[in-house]
Amino acid sequence: MFKLIIGLSTILATSVFAAPKDYLYVTIGSDAVSGADKSLSTGKEIATAGGISVMRIHKNEVLKLSTMMHDKFNRCGGFVAHESLEEAQKVLSNGLTRKFSKSMPFLTYTIDQQETVESLVAQTSEFSIRTVIEKLSSYRNRYYKAQTGVDSQAWLKGKWTELGEGRSDVKVEYFNHSRWPQPSVVMTIEGNSLKDEIVVIGGHADSIAGFWGRERAHAPGADDNASGIATVTEVIRLAMENGYTPERTIKFMAYAAEEVGLLGSKEIANTYKKAGKNVVGVLQLDMTNHKGTEDLDIVFMSDFTNESQNKFLAKLIDTYVKVPWGWSQCGYGCSDHASWHNAGYPASIPFESTMRDINGKIHTKHDTIEQSGGNADHAEKFAKLAVAFMVELGK
Ligand code: BES
Ligand code: ZN
Repeated sequence: MFKLIIGLSTILATSVFAAPKDYLYVTIGSDAVSGADKSLSTGKEIATAGGISVMRIHKNEVLKLSTMMHDKFNRCGGFVAHESLEEAQKVLSNGLTRKFSKSMPFLTYTIDQQETVESLVAQTSEFSIRTVIEKLSSYRNRYYKAQTGVDSQAWLKGKWTELGEGRSDVKVEYFNHSRWPQPSVVMTIEGNSLKDEIVVIGGHADSIAGFWGRERAHAPGADDNASGIATVTEVIRLAMENGYTPERTIKFMAYAAEEVGLLGSKEIANTYKKAGKNVVGVLQLDMTNHKGTEDLDIVFMSDFTNESQNKFLAKLIDTYVKVPWGWSQCGYGCSDHASWHNAGYPASIPFESTMRDINGKIHTKHDTIEQSGGNADHAEKFAKLAVAFMVELGK
């Protein structure tokens, strides 16, 4: 590992061991970032956690940074140079405060991808979303123990595979669960430079109705949750059709067996936790197409979610979606975001209404798209938000 405490030796070394394009990455106390920003013309903060930040600077400005640290902070050096961004990121991910900390922000949330986001947001298609809702709700049910629940996942895997065709950095796989037949479906876009940092965008694919004989019950689950899966699918369509390539790894997930106790997502989130995977953000899309609250379009559940990430999402709405948003609470772990939250990862669930105005037809045979006006207008707003989340976190 190439790592030096900054001093004269580093200044000399950097001219020999220049990072790609003559930039190098430094880890620095987060309190010094704004000072560094001001005194350097190339300084850019890339990540922060536990009081440490990663900055990218041009090698010609190392001396300037060193002088600034000395003058302003009375620190001799005060930063560490790294050969690659991945090395620098490791300092952050190894930091005790970062791993599974529930209160700290995991990242610096910044909004600076206007060009890409605005272009993608302008391309969302109500028709594409509606078509997927109609297809998924045409299965008798998508119950976790029913053959139709296996078949609907096979269709979805096929759909996502087709969208990702021709991309060597994209794969679509089943995550099989040993205790029931319905698999989860996971699509991965491998990140360019920050492969180990994962952004998850998902929702549950199963549906449920009745009490006895659920394997045979009619459970179209158009709102709960064909709408969320269709929203995820729209983000995938936009990413693929525009040749989008993220720096971080993006994973799209369609969880099995949510309706019976968040079983699918619990198994996935706990597997990730055990493997020490670095999931930097989770977006849960569960019920996006029934506008139940007159004055609000998107409502954030404040419980079992990460406050910093919720606020970041609200800013993304103001910047890119421009619809009214508000807060509500489930009062319990009402969907898969709770599985991720409980595993220590930052999760959010932007929801279609407040809890008071909940769609009364869910978990019945009447949960159809007709109940939401026969269109996907409401879900389209969530697709815009999700695409902004993907790009601004995936960078
Ligand atoms: N989509 C619902 C979650 C939901 C319902 C959120 C109403 C907000 C308002 C989800 O599919 C569901 O039904 N969850 C279960 C809980 C789960 C632990 C079985 C529920 O709410 O009963
Ligand atoms: Zn449900």
